[in-house]
Amino acid sequence: MCGIVGVLGKHEVAPILVEALKRLEYRGYDSAGIATVNNGVLDRRRAVGKLVNLSDELVHNPLAGKSGIGHTRWATHGAPTVINAHPHKAGPVAVVHNGIVENFRELREMLATKGYKFVTETDTETVALLAQSFVDAGKSPVDAANATIDALTGAFALCFLFDGQDDLLIAARKGSPLAIGHGDGEMFVGSDAIALAPMTDQVTYLEEGDRAILTRTSVEIFDESGAQVQRTRREIKIDATRIEKAGHKHYMSKEIFEQPTVISEALNYYMSADGASLILPEPGIDFTKYDRIVMVACGTAFYACFTAKYWFEQIAKVPVEVDIASEFRYREAPISPRTLAIYVSQSGETADTLAALRYTAGKAETIITVTNSSESSMARESDMSLPILAGVEVGVASTKAFSCQLTVLLMLALKAAQDRGVLSEDEIKTQLSALRSLPGLLNLALDQSSAISDVSALLAESSDVLFLGRGAMYPLALEGALKLKEISYIHAEGYASGELKHGPIALVDQNTPIIVLAPRDKLFEKTVSNMQEVMARGGKVLLISDEQGLKEAGDGVWQTIQMPTVPDALAPILYAVPAQLLAYHTAVAKGTDVDQPRNLAKSVTVE
Ligand code: F6R
Repeated sequence: MCGIVGVLGKHEVAPILVEALKRLEYRGYDSAGIATVNNGVLDRRRAVGKLVNLSDELVHNPLAGKSGIGHTRWATHGAPTVINAHPHKAGPVAVVHNGIVENFRELREMLATKGYKFVTETDTETVALLAQSFVDAGKSPVDAANATIDALTGAFALCFLFDGQDDLLIAARKGSPLAIGHGDGEMFVGSDAIALAPMTDQVTYLEEGDRAILTRTSVEIFDESGAQVQRTRREIKIDATRIEKAGHKHYMSKEIFEQPTVISEALNYYMSADGASLILPEPGIDFTKYDRIVMVACGTAFYACFTAKYWFEQIAKVPVEVDIASEFRYREAPISPRTLAIYVSQSGETADTLAALRYTAGKAETIITVTNSSESSMARESDMSLPILAGVEVGVASTKAFSCQLTVLLMLALKAAQDRGVLSEDEIKTQLSALRSLPGLLNLALDQSSAISDVSALLAESSDVLFLGRGAMYPLALEGALKLKEISYIHAEGYASGELKHGPIALVDQNTPIIVLAPRDKLFEKTVSNMQEVMARGGKVLLISDEQGLKEAGDGVWQTIQMPTVPDALAPILYAVPAQLLAYHTAVAKGTDVDQPRNLAKSVTVE
């Protein structure tokens, strides 16, 4: 994790660095810092906590200079303190780092024997001291940076700045993404193109193992073998309006309410203009080539995969195995040749998911990534990348990316059903026309926001909450619980309704709200029976269903939330809305930091 930025500019660089870091704060917000070179003099400022604290520090202790690097941190080694904050500086070298240096202990011991003193608990300080040791040994800044990078193992993106060098930045990518931005007599480095968007739309992504030497007017890129290489320069389009709060108090609220719009965009992208057929990007996909599907992801994206398992199996009759990436990557799962591997990732950079993808490379017949970042490592390392078109998601808790992932996966399941002859062309048309109703249904669900806010005020009093669902509502119960705990800090668990009596029912008491996700599908009666078992034991139930469902089963429940009636296959996407709004309003009622919950970061690029 962590976000890094570097600028060789024409103007004072401190405000530019802070502005870029704001755009990277989703990658971590434990502490932040910048370093500049001003008339050859290297100096830095750092502060603990959100970026606003660094801005305050810069008001009191300004930092001049037109060349600089910056960092926003998600702590891995060492607590979030000023001392441990980046940039790390050793003698004439300052460095910012995203990732983990795995051999830092050995390097530390080696440097200690040479008399170098450590003042922090971080792995990154080792990088700065190592570079200093090479400069002390007589190497030039470029040679010192190269020798340092050669000595490191692990995953990292690095950016070096040197005392006495007003026109030099050195950047390296190994395992963590890094983009070079080209300006007019200016040059930039950033963890992603969003950070660079206000400065330039001309971007070159470094490849694995690349190093780049930048001046204001030149970029030289070298691959892992040391050979100079050309990497493609692209024009990046980032819609700035998608990064504003648009009148909402929080990004998360804005992103929840954006769902009808972004899902419409996804539907338009994947459906023909007459809405009668599906269109996939090149090279396309033929589901008759596969005997099974393996789906791998982390967190919310994993729950999207888990939901899709129900769709692929029920609609397309193809067996699906789902796993969380951190387990899958070390599970040594045998992959038969007629396997389609699908990776789902908002960022496309999640370290565990990327490693899992690499594990299946050369084993699975085809690798697909479903992602919100078409330029990400995962997109680039797949046979095909399917965009979810959610637009920039700033809130750390994923909402619109989840529903867009689900929408794309549902369309993929329909394509599988069509290819495998399970659904006829007419049946596909009927399903697609149902999908077309989704944005309208989502708007109706969003109309319940203020009713959900009233219920959330009560939920905010609880210390434990259970979510229950059956069938494709089971993964959503898990997602609802994750959303609630991550932003409101209330302990929550999701269970398959039928599993409750095998143990968890012991948790049921008058103080634990039980949220039952019960669209009126073919499992409705069974879900209601499980709900009755809970109520018979004094449990207080919040039932989420449609008008008829609430009429049939709402007697004696604690609270209700009414959803529109929805075709079965669409229910997980529609019911995501009340799950998200419950978490959102509960967090607001509790006064937690909704968009940047404690201990988290949006893009998890470390293992
Ligand atoms: C939770 C959340 C996380 C992410 C997970 C995977 O709200 O956002 O659980 O879903 O870290 O991230 P991506 O999708 O970027 O791979």
